[in-house]
Amino acid sequence: MSSPRDADTDHGRITRVGVVGAGLMGAGIAEVCARAHVDVLVWESTKELAAAGRARILDSLDRGVSSGKITERERDRAALRLRFTTDLEDFEDRQLVIEAIVEDEAAKTAVFRELDQVIDDPQAVLASNTSSIPIMKLGTATTRPERVIGMHFFNPVPVLPLVELVSTLETGETVRARAEDFAQQVLGKQVVHSADRSGAVVNALLVPYLLSAIRMSESGHATPEDIDRAMVLGCAHPMGPLSLADHVGLDTVKAIADSMYAEFKEPLYSPPPLLLRMVEAGRLGKKSGHGFYRYA
Ligand code: CAA
Ligand code: NAD
Repeated sequence: MSSPRDADTDHGRITRVGVVGAGLMGAGIAEVCARAHVDVLVWESTKELAAAGRARILDSLDRGVSSGKITERERDRAALRLRFTTDLEDFEDRQLVIEAIVEDEAAKTAVFRELDQVIDDPQAVLASNTSSIPIMKLGTATTRPERVIGMHFFNPVPVLPLVELVSTLETGETVRARAEDFAQQVLGKQVVHSADRSGAVVNALLVPYLLSAIRMSESGHATPEDIDRAMVLGCAHPMGPLSLADHVGLDTVKAIADSMYAEFKEPLYSPPPLLLRMVEAGRLGKKSGHGFYRYA
């Protein structure tokens, strides 16, 4: 007799996803999964943060409706596919978990250790949305490093089409194929593959650029407004580098720079003092209402 779980072979479609964290990225990842007809369970550490994450997703779904990307019916159905919990043990039946908590190795390692204990399905895929922490460090926190992979989405997740897949020395070929199938066929994203190097492809190129713009502002070379206008008007970027740093979150930019510097020991990844001072001052960009710019 076969049970529904028997149908979940490595080649079966993933229909039950867990998202750990409902900040900027976790909320976006949960939203795109729910919009793609996937059952989504989202973890946050407190009921208040879970409620804030839910509100963030509902706002974004409303924006999807007002910009004509989804219908009201699709919004309502997506909202019904989202459930929240503060207990990671509720993830036991998940086939894919995407971790999207703060860019902190110790915090992420603790999550992977716990997921390893609670997830029943030996074929489940354990993924991290980390921007810069080597995936192998997360894999070795589990007893199943071959099931661990990087699935790196881009902000805003409902808008940007890329997912970087980061495979470690241990990641199994079936895991890579299953994650690719989910990103492309279920979520409709486009995939590029990267070796397990801090920053994968995009951040290895983007972060030195953002840090250079911060150094340029710090040295008085040009104002933040002129640096941003130059790159928008001169290179047709959708936003300038200092706006983009505010959009990503300056705490996250600093954390990414720290782990890329730890990996490569190259000065171009070293966070400039102005960035450190802004993070210490609580100027985290859009998320705190103040970064290089002020937000209402
Ligand atoms: N759901 C669906 N669609 C949405 C949406 C939502 N929640 N929110 C916005 N959109 C759509 C809009 O309908 C609009 O679509 P059209 O162009 O077809 O009309 C499009 O997205 C742009 O939205 P807006 O007009 O509201 O906003 P904008 O034109 O000012 O663009 C932006 C805002 C999308 C953020 C754009 O400025 C942008 O792409 N900036 C660059 C962002 C970027 O580089 N992100 C990567 C950061 S690095 C990273 O993510 C990795 C890391 O590890 C740090
Ligand atoms: P965020 O600050 O918006 O959210 C952080 C989340 O982590 C929140 O859900 C918070 O409750 C949770 N959290 C904080 N400390 C925790 C702890 N000790 N244990 C468990 N949970 C904790 O951050 P974000 O921008 O959503 O980034 C999340 C992840 O996504 C990071 O790994 C980041 O590098 C990556 N990422 C960020 C961006 C971006 O543009 N912001 C883009 C791609 C990837």
